[in-house]
Amino acid sequence: MTGIAGGKPRHFLDLADFTTAEIEGLLASAKALKARHRKGELGDYLPLLGRKIALVFQQPSLRTRMSFDVGINELGAHVLIVSGDEIELGQRESIADTARVMSRYVDAIMIRMLSHLELTELAHYASVPVINGLTKKSHPCQVLADIQTFEERLGSIRGRTVAWTGDANNVLASWVHAAARLDVKLKIATPEQLAPPKEILDWAAREKADLTLTRDPYEAVSGADCVITDCWVSMGDSDREYRHNLLRPYQVDQRLMDAAGRDAIFLHCLPAKRGEEVAADVIDGPQSAVWDEAENRLHAQKAVLVWALADTK
Ligand code: CP
Ligand code: NVA
Repeated sequence: MTGIAGGKPRHFLDLADFTTAEIEGLLASAKALKARHRKGELGDYLPLLGRKIALVFQQPSLRTRMSFDVGINELGAHVLIVSGDEIELGQRESIADTARVMSRYVDAIMIRMLSHLELTELAHYASVPVINGLTKKSHPCQVLADIQTFEERLGSIRGRTVAWTGDANNVLASWVHAAARLDVKLKIATPEQLAPPKEILDWAAREKADLTLTRDPYEAVSGADCVITDCWVSMGDSDREYRHNLLRPYQVDQRLMDAAGRDAIFLHCLPAKRGEEVAADVIDGPQSAVWDEAENRLHAQKAVLVWALADTK
């Protein structure tokens, strides 16, 4: 299994690592792959025929697991799925040795693990592309699919306004990266205790991202084309009651959507808890694009895989 001939493997760890043109290229590819999918022309296009791709999960997953599995099959490659527990990731042997060994068996590694540091360590020692399937820090595959969904519904995201309300978690961090690269005005409403970490705000300032931080969800959604939220308790969070108490005022209900406007769409990466971060009538209502968003994981990730494995043998 060899990576890019004579060069470094093409990892997909964070949208921050990509230029505007590269992200737009991935989105164009995702759109083309979806059109091909819709026309039922999958059998004519098998760019990854015979390749082998490992999916490693240290945390649970529905969408990431199934969309990668189906996408890899559609591209003609073979998939191997292992849980972090099965291989005792980071315990039975070092992350570096795991990376070295896996690189001898497979052409790419998609991994979900909480530690972003360990993800970067794995990528450092792997000689094949490593794809971030969610860490505690970021979730770039999700946000690529989110942008694809936004653009299907509302046209180019350049110069548009996106509102985030709730916990400043991993999905938001990838939205901050996307906002900087794609000239999105990102308005973020969080309680003070769950505001974006300094590291991401410093990055956003350096990259001149257009962020607005507020405690008021109504201020965040004013003028927004899209309203986004996520669960109040992410994987790896233990302080459930504390988070619920802080985040209750940040629920996306119809009154909040009305404040954004009738044409605004609602996104949520899922899994969702109706009655907590989102009211049932919003997620199940006409402004919600969450099912397209979940489907687009498939197309966006196929674009990432085709890009990551281009020019490799
Ligand atoms: N949105 C998302 O990543 O879903 P899963 O956790 O089910 O993969
Ligand atoms: N923020 C959530 C996303 C789940 C897809 C989590 O990390 O659990």
